[in-house]
Amino acid sequence: MTSNAPRHVAIIMDGNGRWAKQRNRPRTFGHREGVEALKRTVEAAGDMGVRYLTVFGFSTENWTRPPDEVSALMDLLRLYVERDLDKLVKEGVRVRIIGERSGLSEDILGIIRRAETRTKDNDKLNLTIAFNYGGQNEIIRAAQKYAEDVKHGRAPEGAMTPDQFAGYLDTRDLPDPDLIIRTSGEKRISNFLLWQAAYAELVFTETLWPDFGLEPLRSAIEDFHRRERRYGGAGDPAP
Ligand code: FPP
Repeated sequence: MTSNAPRHVAIIMDGNGRWAKQRNRPRTFGHREGVEALKRTVEAAGDMGVRYLTVFGFSTENWTRPPDEVSALMDLLRLYVERDLDKLVKEGVRVRIIGERSGLSEDILGIIRRAETRTKDNDKLNLTIAFNYGGQNEIIRAAQKYAEDVKHGRAPEGAMTPDQFAGYLDTRDLPDPDLIIRTSGEKRISNFLLWQAAYAELVFTETLWPDFGLEPLRSAIEDFHRRERRYGGAGDPAP
């Protein structure tokens, strides 16, 4: 299928708490509806020909939330990845989880391993969930791995290209995002894909994450197509 959809769309799924508050419900209710929005978005992205979809599920900063909200956020992985795994396998979705693994429980690590292993031969849509993820943390871990490689003679010391460094990041198997969407009206990148966002187009929408799905995704992609991407070059010369 030919598609003019951006190859890689990344999303900061924000606004679950506010969505729940508007309905006088607990924040965790908003997160559960957020999972439904994620399911709709995965389906819509696949249908539109997006090959890579990366979403921010839990940040390294989210640990500062109240303990019951933290445990509810952990449960989301179970609620989505574990429960829907058969469907994801059948629909050709390859699941990857990026982020810091240390600090996660055995139970969560098991979910991650099963999801990655069972979907590893799929390639219709590459769904990457950033979980216990922070861009600065990812860059530090990459620098540490590189230093280890130099120390053990596995990498030459000295000059390094951005592409070589990118090979140490959690996203080494993924192209950089073309489009990053943030929902709920906030206009920040919040430590998401800091390195990879270098040339991404950013689209901010007022839609709260639990209301996201096919139409808001389509409209963000239309916005993307109106942009002129220059990658630091001058673009077409002025007439
Ligand atoms: C931001 O809303 C959202 C999160 C911190 C969690 C996002 C998770 C999901 C949408 C569910 C899918 C996740 C996984 C891991 C499968 P917020 O609580 O910051 O909302 P607020 O800004 O309105 O308070």
